[in-house]
Amino acid sequence: METGNDYLMQALERREDSLDASLRPDGFASFTGQEKTLERLEVMVAAAKRRGDSLDHSLLHGPPGLGKTTLALILAREMGAQIRITSGPVIEKASDLAGLLTNLEEGDILFIDEIHRISRTVEEYLYSAMEDYRIDIMIDQGPNARSVRLTIPRFTLIGATTRTGLLTAPLRSRFTLKTRLDYYSKDELKKIVKRTCSILDVGIDDGGALEIARRSRGTPRIVNNLVRFVRDYSQEKAKGAITAASAAKALELLEIDENGLDEMDKRIMITMARNYGGGPVGIRTIAVAVNEEPDTLEEVHEPFLIQEGFIKRTPQGRMLTAKAWGAIGLKHISSDAQGELFDA
Ligand SMILES: Nc1ncnc2c1ncn2[C@@H]1O[C@H](COP(=O)(O)OP(=O)(O)OP(=O)(O)O)[C@@H](O)[C@H]1O
Ligand SMILES: [Mg+2]
Repeated sequence: METGNDYLMQALERREDSLDASLRPDGFASFTGQEKTLERLEVMVAAAKRRGDSLDHSLLHGPPGLGKTTLALILAREMGAQIRITSGPVIEKASDLAGLLTNLEEGDILFIDEIHRISRTVEEYLYSAMEDYRIDIMIDQGPNARSVRLTIPRFTLIGATTRTGLLTAPLRSRFTLKTRLDYYSKDELKKIVKRTCSILDVGIDDGGALEIARRSRGTPRIVNNLVRFVRDYSQEKAKGAITAASAAKALELLEIDENGLDEMDKRIMITMARNYGGGPVGIRTIAVAVNEEPDTLEEVHEPFLIQEGFIKRTPQGRMLTAKAWGAIGLKHISSDAQGELFDA
C-alpha cells in the first residue's frame, strides 16, 4: 500500500540523516525520558570511572527510534572512550569479528547494532571475546589448518536490538546489564519537540508542541521528522512559528493519524476487525494475515497498541478494544450480529 503518506515519510527520512547528528542528545543531561535505563547507565558509568575500569557489556533493547544508538554514543562520550560502530549482518565471518576486535584499544566501546542478526557461528566467537578477552580462530585449511589464540584488549560490547526474543540465551546472559527502552510519554515527547525546535531555531507554542507529541507514536525519531515538516509548513503557509492550528493542518496534509498510528498498526487492527470480528485471535494468525513476522508484531507493534489501549491480551488471544474500533473508523455491532461490520 504505497500512499502519498509513505512517500512523504520516506522523503523525510532521507533528510533525517544529515540533520540527525545535531539533534541527537550528546550527554545524559540532554537525554529526556527513559528514567530507569538512564539511572542504570549513570550508575555503571560512575562506578567504572571510579575504578578506572572499562564499562560492563550492555544490551539496549526496544522498538525502533527510541534512542538505542543515541545512548551508545552517549556512553562513549561520558566514558571518554572511543566507539566503533558496526552491525550484526555486516559481521559475516569469524575473521570479520577477529579483525574488528583486534583493532580495538583498551577501554574502547564496540557497538553492534541489530545484534540479533549476527550469525550463529560468529556469535560463538563472541562468547570468549566477551568473557575472557580472547578468541581462538582457525587459520588455513586442510593439513595446514591450525588454531590461533588472539588476545583482545579489554573492551566493552554494547549491543542494540529491536528483537530481544531472537537473541540466544548464551549471548543474552553475557551482558551484565540488559535494559529496555519504552515508548515516551506525551510530556516527554513535548519536551523533545521543544528541544528540537530550539535547535532548529523555530518558534513553537505549547499547543503546537502537544499536537506534534500526540501524533509521534511515542517515538523521538518520529518527533524529529514531524517537526521538520511542520516547520516547513508553518513557514510557507502560516506566518512562521508553529501553533496547534498550523501543526494540525500540516499533519493532516501528511495523513498522520491523530493517534500517531502507522500503516502497520492500522493494518493489524483492520485485519483483526474485518477477518476476526475483533478477536480473540492468536498473534501468529494475525502475522500471517498481515504478512509480517510474529516476533516483529510482538516486539515492534503490539507494545505500542497495548500501551495506548487499542489492543488487549487475553488468554484466548489478542482483542481490539472499543477505542480501536473508533480509531479505524469501523463500528462493532456485537450481540446478535456478532462480527458484522459497518463503516462508521
Ligand atoms: N531521549 C531523547 N531525547 C531527544 N531525542 C532523542 C531521544 N532519543 C532519541 N532521540 C532522537 O531520535 C532519533 C532516533 O534515535 P536512535 O537513532 O538512537 O534510535 P534507535 O533506538 O537506535 O533506533 P533503531 O532501532 O531504528 O536503530 C535520534 O536521532 C535522536 O535525535
Ligand atoms: Mg539505532
